[in-house]
Amino acid sequence: MAEKMWAGRFQKELDREADDFNSSIHFDRRMFRQDIAGSCAHAAMLAKQGILTKAEGEAIIAALGGILADLESGQLTFDPDAEDIHMFVESVLTERIGELGKKLHTARSRNDQVAVDIRLYLRDEAVEITALIKELLAAILEQAKKHADTIMPGYTHLQRAQPITFGHHLMAYAMMLIRDCGRLENAVKRMNQNPLGSCALAGTTYATDRMATSEALGFDGYTLNSIDGVSDRDFCVELMSAYALIMMHLSRFSEEVILWSSWEFKFIELDDSYTTGSSIMPQKKNPDMAELVRGKTGRVYGNLMALLTTLKGLPLAYNKDMQEDKEAIFDSIDTVKKCLKVFAPMIRTMKALPERMYAAAQKGFINATDLADYLVKKGLPFRTAYKIVGQTVAYAIEKDTVLDDLPLADLKEFSPLFEEDVYTEISLETCVSKRISAGGTGPDSVKAQIEFVESFLNA
Ligand code: ARG
Repeated sequence: MAEKMWAGRFQKELDREADDFNSSIHFDRRMFRQDIAGSCAHAAMLAKQGILTKAEGEAIIAALGGILADLESGQLTFDPDAEDIHMFVESVLTERIGELGKKLHTARSRNDQVAVDIRLYLRDEAVEITALIKELLAAILEQAKKHADTIMPGYTHLQRAQPITFGHHLMAYAMMLIRDCGRLENAVKRMNQNPLGSCALAGTTYATDRMATSEALGFDGYTLNSIDGVSDRDFCVELMSAYALIMMHLSRFSEEVILWSSWEFKFIELDDSYTTGSSIMPQKKNPDMAELVRGKTGRVYGNLMALLTTLKGLPLAYNKDMQEDKEAIFDSIDTVKKCLKVFAPMIRTMKALPERMYAAAQKGFINATDLADYLVKKGLPFRTAYKIVGQTVAYAIEKDTVLDDLPLADLKEFSPLFEEDVYTEISLETCVSKRISAGGTGPDSVKAQIEFVESFLNA
């Protein structure tokens, strides 16, 4: 075990098991780019303020650049015995440039260092995840355009309710995903304040320039209270809840994909490249990707609860408990990314089966509301019309037929207002095309939705 940087105060070495328990290098190493960027900004600021000489600042920054390049190329590997990424980078720096390396940590603490690293890291990942969501949006859009006129049953209580188009149904998911992008953007905006310069908790006696490091690192400003600067993990919770919501949306979508690809529905067929077979049943084509996405939603919810629970009751300022933020949020990020990466092409390549959707929409009295509306337009109050149609439906069920196939004479038994035009008025095509209200399943509305999503993607 290498000597700890903080060894001065201690008479004994840390116990081996305790040392492993304490170490976070195996997971915080993924923030090495952000850690080095933070250190470069800090060194430049120290030199600008005359806390380091200009030459010292330049030498530190050059050496940090070398460390970054060597880590990227694999020439330098992470020391598994290092306590964390911050100690690792600093120790390599000191190995490479000697005593000068030890000056980098002037007017800084690991507490503000880790707070800045994680913000930078999460900011980058949120941008990547937003791009992946947009790929899924584009796949949905492609399918929705293709199926703007494809009629299918719309459901409530998983019972056939009213006819809709497949395009309209898909666009519902587009709306959810656009909100998800907004949530990420919003969380990043609130998070984008620089904690560097808060130091351990109380600030520093050096005349630092926090605006300089903020600008260098692309922050909108710096955190105004140093205690909050090092203790705040709200942004992790906000992002994790945004990730949980994304998974909730993907999980609902997955559930439908799974149902739709069952023999009972057969509304869609997934591409072979996104399905698997069974080891025993030769006929099987299983929607494993959708099931896994649905399943992985649990761990992303769990990560959110884990961090909320870790933070609950923590006194100010930094506590080591907070090291637990990383594995949870890294796992949420990795999971969401993996899910989006298979979900978008799975949706893009899925084949809709419009005849099956249409056949399903023809059953289940899906046009009963429209039959009632027909009578309303002929002057009956809706409640009265509703009751008449209820009786008509009961009669049709008894005769083992559907509303469209009842002879006009039979319909007239229930209301003299029924005329020959009733059949076109309750056809599935009419039911869909006449749903003209804004946001409804009618073609103009679906077109407007598609345009909205397109302009979101082009913005
Ligand atoms: N590895 C630590 C973390 O992730 C870095 C901060 C350590 N600070 C300290 N005072 N021990 O939280």
